[in-house]
Amino acid sequence: MINRRQCLELALGAGAALTLNARLFAAQQSVLQRAIPSTGEMLPIIGLGSSATFSAAARSDELDGLREVMKSLVEHGGKVLDTAPGYGASEQVSGQIARELGIANRIFWATKVNVAGRGAAKADPAAAAAQIEDSFRKLGVSKIDLIQVHNMGDVATQLPILKDLKKQGRIRYIGVTTTSPDQYAAIEQVMRNEPLDFVGLDYAIDNRDVEQRLLPLAMERKIGVLVYLPFGRSSLFRRVAGRSVPDWAKEFDATTWAQFFLKYLAGHPAVTAITPSTTKAANMIDNLGGGSGRLPDAAMRRRMVEYVDSLPAA
Ligand SMILES: NC(=O)c1ccc[n+]([C@@H]2O[C@H](COP(=O)([O-])OP(=O)(O)OC[C@H]3O[C@@H](n4cnc5c(N)ncnc54)[C@H](OP(=O)(O)O)[C@@H]3O)[C@@H](O)[C@H]2O)c1
Repeated sequence: MINRRQCLELALGAGAALTLNARLFAAQQSVLQRAIPSTGEMLPIIGLGSSATFSAAARSDELDGLREVMKSLVEHGGKVLDTAPGYGASEQVSGQIARELGIANRIFWATKVNVAGRGAAKADPAAAAAQIEDSFRKLGVSKIDLIQVHNMGDVATQLPILKDLKKQGRIRYIGVTTTSPDQYAAIEQVMRNEPLDFVGLDYAIDNRDVEQRLLPLAMERKIGVLVYLPFGRSSLFRRVAGRSVPDWAKEFDATTWAQFFLKYLAGHPAVTAITPSTTKAANMIDNLGGGSGRLPDAAMRRRMVEYVDSLPAA
């Protein structure tokens, strides 16, 4: 008599079965939780991003794949879904799938506002308010967990709109995002001067500039951090192509490259949640494994950096 896993292993062959075992093992463990510094509310440390993936899949009618990804997110202990009006059909599609699956209230909805673009352009406050109402409609929820000013677009105009909605109880948390080093000095000023719950920042094992000033400041000011681009839009996977995860990664329970990269980030105490994007349920489960089990300590994190830095850039 063989069990379900053995049956799958036979069907997939030895190599795939090894990967499957690693993923199942990781998924069976619970996802670590981190507190949102401003309230103490706990969030699973691994979530789901949706920029390129959801908009592309929506264009090509590949909704079944995304349905499986969102189902896996929630079933395996994740919660945060990062989206934005600027991500094509992402809000519409994720809201629709969540309603169909009946999981809308099991998701921590993180979306954004920006009608000013990047840089010095001014935002029309009426257009920003209308964009936010559109997000409520598309996500199909009466309260949005988090709205952030996207890419630091006219923060002086758009952040007060978010503060007001938070006061009214329509949104729970507010923040500001950037993934551009040329905006780090400006976001630092906003972090020092505004009552933010979150910032969204680019951070990856081979993209560590935020460790210098922004992550320590987030801890000092009790601002939560959502990590964006944790795989450098998949460039990290190209960098390690053809290489096995080092044996010593077992010391912090990483059995796949995705888990190795995510555990490096989760090992930083300023990080509240990491939102890798994926179009594949198996990768979603793999990623949630990056938030399970042991995390690397400071010495191990230095070893991980030395290893990745020694590889040729992708
Ligand atoms: N300014 C901002 O506010 C801002 C800017 C950039 C990004 N973001 C947010 O951050 C999120 C993440 O960034 P991103 O989507 O650009 O890039 P990313 O998460 O660094 O990388 C996504 C890529 O990694 C692959 N991948 C995911 N899990 C994998 C796994 N376990 N094994 C192998 N490959 C895997 C995906 O391919 P598969 O589909 O094949 O899995 C996808 O191509 C965005 O979706 C967005 O929500 C915000």
